[in-house]
Amino acid sequence: MTQWGIEVEHLRKEFDGKPAVRDVSFTVGAGTLLGLLGPNGSGKTTIINCLTTVLTPDGGRLLVDGCDVTGAPEQVRARIAVTGQFAALDEVLSGRDNLMLFGRLLRLPKRQARQRADELLDRFALGDAADKPVKAYSGGMRRRLDLAASLVVPRPVVFLDEPTTGLDPRSREELWQTIRQLRDDGATILLTSQYLEEVDRLADRVVVIDAGRVIAEGTGDELKGRVGGQVCEVTVPEPNRAAAREALRAFSGEVAEHGEHLVVPVSRPAQLVEIVRLLDDRGIEIDDAALRKPTLDEVFFALTGRADETADGDERAADGDAGTTGRDGERPAGAVPAEGARS
Ligand SMILES: Nc1ncnc2c1ncn2[C@@H]1O[C@H](COP(=O)(O)OP(=O)(O)OP(=O)(O)O)[C@@H](O)[C@H]1O
Ligand SMILES: [Mg+2]
Repeated sequence: MTQWGIEVEHLRKEFDGKPAVRDVSFTVGAGTLLGLLGPNGSGKTTIINCLTTVLTPDGGRLLVDGCDVTGAPEQVRARIAVTGQFAALDEVLSGRDNLMLFGRLLRLPKRQARQRADELLDRFALGDAADKPVKAYSGGMRRRLDLAASLVVPRPVVFLDEPTTGLDPRSREELWQTIRQLRDDGATILLTSQYLEEVDRLADRVVVIDAGRVIAEGTGDELKGRVGGQVCEVTVPEPNRAAAREALRAFSGEVAEHGEHLVVPVSRPAQLVEIVRLLDDRGIEIDDAALRKPTLDEVFFALTGRADETADGDERAADGDAGTTGRDGERPAGAVPAEGARS
């Protein structure tokens, strides 16, 4: 037993001479959930594939539950559960039969396979659907069954690669519940996501990667703190918005717009008053103005210079530490997204 469920030291992996993961290091405490957050193509799946022995790293040292991934791959495989984007479920079989099949493939005696299947169906809230064919399952139920299938033999370390991608909000919420329970039961979990909200809701700690590098890490709150502490959100009805935007721009230079809300980073709480006064001086009516912590979307934008879902694969102004100097009263170099992933 080690302190760390997962240790990644200086991981490197390239494809055809093009680096996909560049010198990535992080640890996941045993029994905790780490959210690996990054846009398309940032290297999340490659990191998971290296940790789960699917790919051979080009460099670095990887330990899973204390076992060296390159030196002892079988020991690693015996300790991990992996669920990816594409589940290996049989559509025609029922949920229970699928789980029993996995159990049998893992050489459990029939009675034990059945018992374990029922246990898992219960635990993953699939008891009512146990006898329905998988083709009748919703996306969320499939993901839960997929997760259950990976745990037919209990494993201390669980890898979840974008587990809720494509799910509707309710299914996502249900899967989150399942993942939390898994964590509470003591599993070490590495979860990748492109959803800032997801890691914010689930993760004990977050590692943000971009273009194969770690660009930030900490708790969700710490990351939000790095943006500079707070933003001021001003709610402005039309037709005043353009004028308000103009006025705020004079104040800050970085104004983001989410529907009727205009958002500017602030470095001191007193700036709320300054903003309200500024708008009032110009005769611009507003509905509301309030300080709040930035969302992780805003954090990501500040760290990378762009909104999370607008990654275009080009060389971007993702300049390591830019935008992270939110301390002593300085406004961060980054800004909040004009079109965030918020709804
Ligand atoms: N087998 C492969 N051969 C060649 N290039 C690859 C291969 N797998 C990944 N890559 C490249 O490595 C980079 C990282 O890809 P990876 O799939 O790890 O990103 P990701 O963060 O999981 O993205 P997504 O959010 O889209 O799943 C990308 O540029 C990708 O094109
Ligand atoms: Mg991926």
